[in-house]
Amino acid sequence: MKASVEARNLTIYYGKQVALSDVTFQLGASETLLLLGPNGAGKTTLLRTIAGFHTQYTGELLIFGKKPEEAKELVSYVPQSHSLNENVPLTALEVVAMGAIYKRGLIHRKIPPEIEERALNVLSFVGLENVANKLFRNLSGGQKQRVLLARALVSDPKLLLLDEPLSALDPSARAEVTSVLDRIKKKKNIAMIITTHDINPLLEIGDKVMLINRRMIAFGKPDEALTDEIIKSVYGPMARAIKVEERLYCITGDFHIHVRRDRK
Ligand SMILES: Nc1ncnc2c1ncn2[C@@H]1O[C@H](COP(=O)(O)OP(=O)(O)O)[C@@H](O)[C@H]1O
Ligand SMILES: [Mg+2]
Repeated sequence: MKASVEARNLTIYYGKQVALSDVTFQLGASETLLLLGPNGAGKTTLLRTIAGFHTQYTGELLIFGKKPEEAKELVSYVPQSHSLNENVPLTALEVVAMGAIYKRGLIHRKIPPEIEERALNVLSFVGLENVANKLFRNLSGGQKQRVLLARALVSDPKLLLLDEPLSALDPSARAEVTSVLDRIKKKKNIAMIITTHDINPLLEIGDKVMLINRRMIAFGKPDEALTDEIIKSVYGPMARAIKVEERLYCITGDFHIHVRRDRK
């Protein structure tokens, strides 16, 4: 089975400025990677490069064995804040259908029946078939994020890239979205990369963790990648990784990370 992502000595630039360097890792075809790092660390930059939107890099980067620009069909990317114009009165169903229509370059107002059926299926996968005909702009924050996940899934991607999918949500909306992510992990045989400030709600679905701060600091299974020494090197001497009853907790000042015990 091919790796979903293979990066070797990847360095990403904006002009002459290095945004992120020393990135070397492999992610399996159905593994989930949690991408952590402080603000400005390069998380969004790495996701956009993997998605094929940012092309200023050196080193090797392969997505299912192809260059990112040639692998766009296999990848869905959900940016941190959506760019939908909420003045346009689109229903949840139309927003999801856009995910299929866009990729084919057809932008119609009328959704072909085959696409409507697929859109309804993914809406039901994220538990939102009941709001299919409601206006997107009238949905709650958690529902909007679930619609955006459905839109990303409707094209059957092999790799799903999610930029801070839980930020800007209240605790109950976070729980809604987390449970959809969990469902994707369990039911869809795809790879995911999720950037997050707070690893806590996502622990159960992370096979691998990467910590970056303008360069790759650590990559591995959660227990291996998040040691006391590594956490301190990124978040300063007050940060700590502590184990309590076999669970790892990372305290980093502005937030704490809690890592699940490794599954047997
Ligand atoms: N379009 C851009 N042009 C130049 N520099 C950028 C651009 N976008 C991001 N950067 C810089 O790249 C670095 C990483 O940013 P980003 O990937 O957004 O970090 P994160 O998502 O981890 O907060 C930052 O120093 C940021 O200022
Ligand atoms: Mg970002």
